[in-house]
This record gives sequence, C-alpha cells and structure tokens, in this order.
Amino acid sequence: MTVREILKMGDPRLLRIAEPVTEFDTPAMRELIADMFDTMHAANGAGLAAPQIGVNLQLVIFGFKQNQRYPDAPQVPETVLINPLLTPLSEEMEEGFEGCLSVPGLRGSVPRYTRLRYAGVDENQQPILRDVDGFHARVVQHEVDHLLGILYPMRIRDFSRFGYTQVMFPDLDPNDDD
Ligand code: NI
Repeated sequence: MTVREILKMGDPRLLRIAEPVTEFDTPAMRELIADMFDTMHAANGAGLAAPQIGVNLQLVIFGFKQNQRYPDAPQVPETVLINPLLTPLSEEMEEGFEGCLSVPGLRGSVPRYTRLRYAGVDENQQPILRDVDGFHARVVQHEVDHLLGILYPMRIRDFSRFGYTQVMFPDLDPNDDD
C-alpha cells in the first residue's frame, strides 16, 4: 500500500494539460492505479486525478458506496476512467458544493452540467460509456477538470458560497481535513 503525496493548489503541476495514456496493463500502470486508490481511500476522497499526485496523464478514479466527506451523496460506482471525453446531455447546469483534496479545508459552490455522457476506457482498455446525472455527473466533471489544469475554485461564480468546511459544514467530521 502506497499513499502518495497529494499536490496542493498553487503547485504549477496542477495547472498542466494532461497527456493521453498510451500504455495499458503494464506493471507501472497497475502500480499507479493501485497507489491512486490507496491515496484516495486514505484521504476519504470521492475521486482523484493522476495530476494530483504529480502524474500528468489522463487518468482519473472515483466512486464510493458511502462517503464521509459527502454524507448525503448517492453512491457512485468505483471507476477507473482513462482518456475521458465528456458530452453534456443538456444545457442545464446546477450549483452544488464541492471540495478537493488539493484544496484542503475549503468548500465552494460550483456550477456543473446536470446530465452528461462520459466515454473512455478502463485499466484493461475496455470501453466505458455512461449517461449520468446529479452527484455522479458532478464528480466526473470535477475530476476531468483536473486533466485540463482546472481546479474547482476557478469555476466558482458566487464567492459568497466559498469558505472553510468547518465553518460552512460544522456537522462534518473536523478530523476529516479535506
Ligand atoms: Ni479535486
């Protein structure tokens, strides 16, 4: 089990455009994906993108049955998504609070597409094609933004809804330093 260091906002490596993955099912890729899950689970994250551990590849993981950082969120299947392509299924957007392991201790309300289709491949190069909505759609947009060098605060429109988790959501576990 290897928990990698998560880069924090301000690190220029979080602002890069990630490169497509071209090698699959290699020892290095298997180790990278295992480390990403170890790192995400250790931080109680809902998702993690490879650039957050300094690996500039188009690779994200996400999913949980129950997440203590987002206790009201419906479950999202555990997914490895490589070389993703997102297509909104309507123009409709909705605001919702997000946090990020690279922006610890803060939450902000971010507009996201309500419904979208995502395509890509998994770690075995098997195709993934899903139409999703709600929190699942939000998580995917947040993670794929990391591949474009975009952190959620860059999407915030109303900065009156951006602040410290322990102030805005005092019922969340204060030891859960997101
Ligand atoms: Ni994030």
